[in-house]
Amino acid sequence: MTQSPRLLIAGNWKMHGTNAFASDLAGSLAHKMSDAGNNGVEILLCPPALLLGAVRVSIGDSGISLGGQDCHAAEQGAHTGDTSAAMLHDAGCAYVIIGHSERRADHDEDDATVNAKATAAQTSGLVPIICIGETLEEREAGRAVEVVTGQLRGSIPEGSSAASMVVAYEPVWAIGTGRTPTLDDISQVHDAIRAALKSVSRDFKSVRILYGGSVKPENASEILAVANVNGALVGGASLKTDDFWAVAEAAT
Ligand code: PGA
Repeated sequence: MTQSPRLLIAGNWKMHGTNAFASDLAGSLAHKMSDAGNNGVEILLCPPALLLGAVRVSIGDSGISLGGQDCHAAEQGAHTGDTSAAMLHDAGCAYVIIGHSERRADHDEDDATVNAKATAAQTSGLVPIICIGETLEEREAGRAVEVVTGQLRGSIPEGSSAASMVVAYEPVWAIGTGRTPTLDDISQVHDAIRAALKSVSRDFKSVRILYGGSVKPENASEILAVANVNGALVGGASLKTDDFWAVAEAAT
């Protein structure tokens, strides 16, 4: 048996918040961290890029980690409106979410784009959280595992190590809908992801695989107890201190 990797509970704020909101939410989570400690769970906040500064100040030295929600594949250049991995690193980020299904859908990001962005992230010293997940149509056609493992193979940068990436399985139909797969379905996909990772490199037995899609205080404990679920990527529930903290506590 291999030792389980440290659980990661990541909050994806998406396009929500103001400076005041960010300082408030991050500040109260930082207080909770100093009161309760994190019991070995890593907590990560991924606010919109413009709010990274406010969150960084509020989390201080609480031990909460900071991450971006996307980066450009290029190091710098004429890319109006984009953010580079180096800029995120400079802003205090340790992680960046890459290939979220909303970006795959809204910005036509395919596996090659995701791979290039994840490579840029690693080059700048960030850990990419590489998102993969099937649509409802694909699940109903019995293709969930095939789709997800295919995305995985196409999205992982060459030369990655277990410590230099995180994978997030997020069924598209479970995001923001309140619907979640059964625990058996989560288990089946996470096991398949682990097997696919191990077929690429033996070292990948300890890559963290997060589950995302309607994670909330009511379902966090049972989802986090599934084998090969090494944390959660939390959207809606990460916007409320008590809900996000309850999910983090469910991981301990
Ligand atoms: P949700 O979003 O928790 O609101 O379903 C998860 C995500 O998109 O990362």
